[in-house]
Amino acid sequence: MNRQLHLGLFIYPGAHHIAGWRHPSTPAASVTGLDFYRNVAQLAERGKFDLFFVGDTLFTREKDGRFFGRQSVSNLDPVSLLSALSSVTSKLGLVGTLSTTYHEPYEIATKYATLDHLSGGRAGWNVVTTWEDKASLNFSRDQAMAKADRYVRGREFIDVCTSLWDSQDDGAAIADAASGIRRDPLRVRPVAHRGESFAVSGVLPVPRPVQGWPVLVQAGGSPPGLEFAALVAEAVFTAQTDFDLARAFRTSTHERMARYGRRPDEVVIMPGLSPLLGSTEAEARRLEQELGDLVHPEVGIWMLSENLGFSLYDRDPDDLLPVDAIRAAKKPTANADMLLTNAAREKLTIAGSARLIARSRAHHSFVGTPDQLVDLMERWLLGGACDGFNVMPPYFPEQLSVFVEHVVPELQRRGLFREEYTGTTLREHLGLARPEPGRFQRMLAHVPA
Ligand SMILES: Cc1cc2nc3c(=O)[nH]c(=O)nc-3n(C[C@H](O)[C@H](O)[C@H](O)COP(=O)(O)O)c2cc1C
Repeated sequence: MNRQLHLGLFIYPGAHHIAGWRHPSTPAASVTGLDFYRNVAQLAERGKFDLFFVGDTLFTREKDGRFFGRQSVSNLDPVSLLSALSSVTSKLGLVGTLSTTYHEPYEIATKYATLDHLSGGRAGWNVVTTWEDKASLNFSRDQAMAKADRYVRGREFIDVCTSLWDSQDDGAAIADAASGIRRDPLRVRPVAHRGESFAVSGVLPVPRPVQGWPVLVQAGGSPPGLEFAALVAEAVFTAQTDFDLARAFRTSTHERMARYGRRPDEVVIMPGLSPLLGSTEAEARRLEQELGDLVHPEVGIWMLSENLGFSLYDRDPDDLLPVDAIRAAKKPTANADMLLTNAAREKLTIAGSARLIARSRAHHSFVGTPDQLVDLMERWLLGGACDGFNVMPPYFPEQLSVFVEHVVPELQRRGLFREEYTGTTLREHLGLARPEPGRFQRMLAHVPA
């Protein structure tokens, strides 16, 4: 049998393409209501997707210190949204972001344990340390923590959360009405943690999650981020636009994991992929043009400047992107670096780079027919560049429908993707083992002092 592909649906309110919300088929005004998300999640479940993923927003991005009304809306609170969706889906994994920098372990461990129970074992947590420095301003801090410190705190955070999930053994909640014992005291392991950032003692109020722990996802791109992912991640979300670089990323992730005693089959690597699909290539190109025309020029340049950390507002949009000046001004982030390399190779103008980033926010974008997309997905999967994709429709729900109706059946016909769900939990969909208690602490023993 061929290797099997994993599919995530990465939702972004209304659209991944920055102007997708302006497309006539997008219900732009209803992206805060349950109907929109239920429709999209149920579509994904009809397409046998492994998971639905929603990010967090801890800071609404502004331009020149003022609210920027041309931007589309931000994410709803992830865990609240996923809890609502758990009642209108039955198989789809439910993955949401929460930050280890701005929350407390007891609070987050309880939320995801609750979601895992309510959904029958479908919860996943995208563990972030929060990429947006300005989020600190909304959490009573003048300054963001340095990145390396955020990841050290993140590691301790996971240590505490996993200890809390393990604090009641499987089956400790015996609820034996005859003897009057609800929780077996011999199967409870209170946490007694006193560390650099956290002091936590006691037992989680919620029994051990159905999956042991929710599936832990990570998407760090910097050196400390990659190291953290190697230690923690059971699924890795990443922005990769080039087959060879994606393959090298997957190999190096496996090598890093080995240093913590982890095997390659303990992680699922899922690059983002934003497909714009048409029944013919010409139709897809026409849609691309249509969407490109909907990008307000001010929005494109704003988005590019934000992502590169370099103001491009005063430049001629038809000039080449000043790649060298941008690199010289500030060390680019991993995503910005990829965009700059691409722009230098393709000799992109500022307007051209803005159009590109508007299209997929630095993720891999594709324009063409369902068959052509399946060719690409097959090549990446069988060539070892990924274990699946986080699908980012440029606009919802129409482009997701096309994916479900035309791409999924072709993947199935080629034997690359499930015809039916064979399990019920997210771990079962992803082929990940249920963690035995204490696993994370055993891995921590490999971390150099
Ligand atoms: C698919 C994907 C989704 C992400 N979602 C979030 C998110 O919801 N919240 C967040 O703060 N960062 C998010 N990030 C950013 C990463 O967590 C990470 O901060 C970023 O890739 C930069 O890496 P670094 O933190 O190692 O510098 C996401 C990244 C990717 C690739």
